[in-house]
Amino acid sequence: MERADILVIHAAELLTLDEGPDGPLRGADLGRLGIVPDGAVAIRDGRIQAVGPTEAILHRFQGRVRISAAGRTVCPGFVDPHTHLVYPAMRQDEFRMRIEGMSYVDIAKAGGGIRSSVRRLRQASKEDLLHRARPHLRRALEHGTTTVEIKTGYGLETASELKTLEAIEELRWEGPCDVVATFLGAHEVPDEYQGRKREFIDLVIHEMIPQAAETGIARFCDVFCEAHVFTVEESREILFAARNAGFRLKIHAEEFEPIGGARMAAELGAVSADHLVAIDDEGIAAMRDAGTVAVLLPGTSFFLGMHRFAPARKLVEAGVPVAIATDFNPGSAMSESMQMTITLACLGLRLTPAEAIAAATRNAAYALEAGDRVGRLREGMQADLLVLDIPDHEVLPYHFGVNHVQTVVKKGRIVHQAG
Ligand code: NIG
Ligand code: FE
Repeated sequence: MERADILVIHAAELLTLDEGPDGPLRGADLGRLGIVPDGAVAIRDGRIQAVGPTEAILHRFQGRVRISAAGRTVCPGFVDPHTHLVYPAMRQDEFRMRIEGMSYVDIAKAGGGIRSSVRRLRQASKEDLLHRARPHLRRALEHGTTTVEIKTGYGLETASELKTLEAIEELRWEGPCDVVATFLGAHEVPDEYQGRKREFIDLVIHEMIPQAAETGIARFCDVFCEAHVFTVEESREILFAARNAGFRLKIHAEEFEPIGGARMAAELGAVSADHLVAIDDEGIAAMRDAGTVAVLLPGTSFFLGMHRFAPARKLVEAGVPVAIATDFNPGSAMSESMQMTITLACLGLRLTPAEAIAAATRNAAYALEAGDRVGRLREGMQADLLVLDIPDHEVLPYHFGVNHVQTVVKKGRIVHQAG
């Protein structure tokens, strides 16, 4: 008998996400969950030793700890590849203003939105930011997120951007969630540079990017490319400088208007383009050709009351790898729950439950270039998994707005148990 630290056994459905060709799942493969009935997982030293039918696993392994998942569903921990989780204060007043009829862009133009978060983040200490971020990260974990990306972008001056990066780094050290940092110094034009956007871009390129790169904290650089923020040309310049400084690239593109940001980013070799509500056929073709992951944020469309969602079916049919994320932030998406995001991906993006789950696990991992480590249940990969208190995966989006997580295992340790 081989020894295991943990055996998870008798899952009614074990979703391995380990079928199909290598890389992210595309096209008709997106719905392939790799379901093992009466499935089991053996875990040792933080890694997955074996995955298979319970009978075969119990035949081969002796486990110190046994978790019975009878009547339940087991899947990889969720990967949330787009959040703004380190922020200074909530903006519930803007939620009310939108209900009363103002739009997100109107609020931003009037000095609210991102710029109001910027004013407050500059006043906050790193400890203040951590104090606010920790409960969100904990809640994300309790809702099944075991890997999360976090962006800067509420500092918009060198010292405050670096302060945010350090806070993100500290969250990474604290664990247990894996944290991936993204530098987003070009998230908006701050108050003091209104009317002097060119000078702000120069500051981003010549001061912020080199100093952020020097810290080594962030793997990615992102830009908010939108008609009222940074144009395609400006975004290209910023991403080009970031690439030269050693960053991998991401972009916020086509959230409101189809100005061509996704196509530009794909041509620069970006790992992902995110939002894409208004993406056109040319953008879709460029992303397919480059293999750029589409990170769709249905919670944002929902929360902004947009009645318009990204053309996910078109993206899937074109062969673009599709992932989903919460976009957790105080302005446009105040929820840490990937389970809620999966429901909204079904209702708004018209992904099937199986497709939405693949977009939240395996494909989301590829949006962070972590697909060889997390997002699947496969021998040798990190032992990040969830026991969900549902009899099959279709119940996950269907029974919505509640938490189905029973147990969270992160790197082979039980880090959360419900009740
Ligand atoms: O992804 N679109 C830009 N950035 C965020 C919103 C940030 C905010 O409003 O604070 C987003 O939706
Ligand atoms: Fe965002």
